[in-house]
Amino acid sequence: MSAPEPSPSKKHLVLVGMMGSGKSSVGRALSARCGAPFLDTDAMIEGRARKTVTFLFREWGEARFREMEREILAEALAEETPSIISTGGGVVVTPENRAALQAHSHVVYLHAPAEVLFQRLKRDTSRPLLQQPDPLQVLRDLEEKRRAFYEEAHDRIDVSQLQQKAAAEEIWKKLPESLKQGLSSGRTCPP
Ligand code: S3P
Repeated sequence: MSAPEPSPSKKHLVLVGMMGSGKSSVGRALSARCGAPFLDTDAMIEGRARKTVTFLFREWGEARFREMEREILAEALAEETPSIISTGGGVVVTPENRAALQAHSHVVYLHAPAEVLFQRLKRDTSRPLLQQPDPLQVLRDLEEKRRAFYEEAHDRIDVSQLQQKAAAEEIWKKLPESLKQGLSSGRTCPP
C-alpha cells in the first residue's frame, strides 16, 4: 500500500536518522534520480559559519550548534522549490524541528543498528559526539534517546544491508505520488 497523500505544504522530502545511516549519500542519490535540489543541513551550517561541525561543537558547545541547526532547518524548509533535505542525526532532539518537519515535509527515517553504524564510523573523526573511549555505547545511548523522535517519521527504511542507490530506489518507490511529482517538477524521471 502506498503512503497517504500529504497536504500541499508538505513538499520537501527530509531524511532523518543516526550518524552513519547514509542520509547525505542517499539524499544525493535521490536528488540525482529526480532532479530536485539537494540540501544538507550540516553542510549549510558549515557554509554559514565557515567552520567545521567539529570546530563548532568545540568552540560553541552543543547548545549553540543546535540553535544554528534550528535556524538552518527552518530556512531549508522555507525553500520554494521542493527539495531533498538531509539532516544531522541530532536534528530531532529540538522540539521546534520536529514540529516543523511534520508541518512542511515528508520525513523518512533511515535505520540501522548501532553495531552497523559503529562499523561504518569507527575510524571517523568528524563526529564530535563519537570522540569518546566507547563510541559504540554512545551510539546505542543516542539511538535509545532519539528512537521515539525518529519514529515520528512518515516512513522508515532499514539501511543496514542497502547500498545508497538501492536505498534511494526503495524510498522513491514508497513516496506519495504528489510528492514525487513535486520533486521531479515535470522532468522525466523513472517511475
Ligand atoms: C550529530 C550528527 C552529525 C552532526 C553533528 C551531531 C548528532 O550529523 O550534525 O556531529 O547529534 O547525531 P550526521 O548525522 O550527518 O553525522
